[in-house]
Amino acid sequence: MYRTKTCGELRLSDAGREVTLAGWVQKSRRLGGMTFIDLRDRYGITQLVVDAAAPEELKEAADSLGREWVLQVTGKVCERQSKNPKMPTGDIEIQVAAIKVLNKAQTPPFTIEDNTDGGEDLRARFRYLDLRRGPLQRALQLRHRICHEVRSYLNANDFLEIETPFLINSTPEGARDFVVPSRVNPGTFYALPQSPQTLKQSLMVAGMDRYFQIVRCFRDEDLRADRQPEFTQIDCEMSFVEQDDVLNMFEGMMRTLFKNVLDVEIPNPIPRMTWFDAMDYYGSDKPDIRFGMKIHEITDVAKGHGFSVFDGAAYVGAIAVPGAASWSRKQVDELVEWVKRPQVGAKGMVNIRCNEDGSFKSSVDKFFAPEQVGAMAAAAEAGKGDLVLILCGQKRKTETELGTLRIELGNRMGLRNPKEFAPLWVTDFPLFEWNEEENKWDAVHHPFTAPKPELLDYYYSDKKEDIEKVCANAYDFVLNGTELGGGSIRIHDPKMQERMFEIIGIGEEEAMRKFGFLINAFKYGAPPHGGLAFGLDRVCALFGGSDTIRDYIAFPKNNQGRDIMLGAPSVIDDKQLDELQIDIRKQE
Ligand code: AMO
Repeated sequence: MYRTKTCGELRLSDAGREVTLAGWVQKSRRLGGMTFIDLRDRYGITQLVVDAAAPEELKEAADSLGREWVLQVTGKVCERQSKNPKMPTGDIEIQVAAIKVLNKAQTPPFTIEDNTDGGEDLRARFRYLDLRRGPLQRALQLRHRICHEVRSYLNANDFLEIETPFLINSTPEGARDFVVPSRVNPGTFYALPQSPQTLKQSLMVAGMDRYFQIVRCFRDEDLRADRQPEFTQIDCEMSFVEQDDVLNMFEGMMRTLFKNVLDVEIPNPIPRMTWFDAMDYYGSDKPDIRFGMKIHEITDVAKGHGFSVFDGAAYVGAIAVPGAASWSRKQVDELVEWVKRPQVGAKGMVNIRCNEDGSFKSSVDKFFAPEQVGAMAAAAEAGKGDLVLILCGQKRKTETELGTLRIELGNRMGLRNPKEFAPLWVTDFPLFEWNEEENKWDAVHHPFTAPKPELLDYYYSDKKEDIEKVCANAYDFVLNGTELGGGSIRIHDPKMQERMFEIIGIGEEEAMRKFGFLINAFKYGAPPHGGLAFGLDRVCALFGGSDTIRDYIAFPKNNQGRDIMLGAPSVIDDKQLDELQIDIRKQE
């Protein structure tokens, strides 16, 4: 037997017991003739001590140990002289009777401690060492807990866990596909699923009623802190449901996760907001509602006073920053530069300081009478001591800029506490968006998303202004400004599906080629159905209080989509290329 106990479980009540532990040397130090060794495994760290009176051989063995050596140690549990209240095992130590080196280790390229000295690239190259560190151990444990709770909740609600293939055809999520060449069918390619969307819908036609899968999805898109080329969804679908059935089921799941994993109660019911309100008040389809500073449209009071910038704009919007009237000129100028960065895109920014004495000082005082400035501040719902920030231009673009500014201010002012959780359903997205470049309608979601039942007349209308009004029967689950999940009620009526393809300009041939099996399946009695998918990596990161999903994935890719440890992607042998009948174009 390699061990009788783990390095995390011994307490004062175990004093006097003979135990055998196994683990890695976190560190060792000599102090007054004694050697102290911290032995680490997944469960914790236990202090070992070899005292001055120990046999020479044992002392020598203890002194020769290096960091990360793998040991088996036998000894007696004793009460510590100087206890460490920060460690669960801090009341005890092991008086070592025997040390067996199970494996030596090279000196690791960075320190394996919670706060390491290793840079990101180095840690990625030695991911198996990075994963030994406490924060990453805890991150993967959290992920396991979440998966376990998800499975148990969905199982209790009659969902069947069903696997779907990875080697398939293009799926309709709208990113680029990763493709895999077929050797047996030369010149043809599989596409890896961007999600199992069409397959889970087929499972509803197959009568499975409630499906889920914790499943890898693949999307060749630009990477960010919350995006990976392969990521995991908690993918679900239900038959004979309307929007409320789906939202209630998954509110229940999130509530259970928060309660059982974090012991946090989230609001019941979770608030809902339409996409239009989200855009108008937060300038984002994923509002962070942990803090205020809502956007106010002030077009009516801002226009018509001879300030050509506002007069020529379709929309003028403002946010009131509480207590910021006292910010220095330099601070405000810096913010103006900040909104002009290409990532934000504003051309300039007007500000109004609402002084404590009730007077106003604005950057456009020469164009506006004081009462007009006051009217703008009032329209922005600013109080004494607030700073009003104003942007103008085309409506949605300006709202989005204000939304970006709002989040930045929230960060700078410390209003985005990762321990506070503000979930939200965003509903009633537009079903279509106009593609200026190609002069056509695009589906905002995948093309199996149903229109809201009350807007069907618009859906079947030929007028552009009607099509624009059609909302999707779709919903996103948003937490603290991050989209954690999304889904919709699907189209199950062939006529409605045909109309969808007609509006977005997918011809019959193309539709049949891409999704023929699903279109055919719908001819054989498709139940009304709908579902959603949560991004598991994002759920884990937010539960763990982090912005980046990479820490919650055992072997993630870097910003260039590379796995540095594996050296992937890489070139393949000529022989393999020959078998696949693929020629690589020579790079210039
Ligand atoms: P959607 O495309 O919104 O919906 O994806 C669902 C959720 O998956 C997560 N996600 C990602 N996480 C990490 N890296 C990525 N590259 C990435 N892309 C998406 C997000 C997102 O909310 N088939 C539909 C679901 C449905 O309609 O049932 C779908 O895939 O958290």
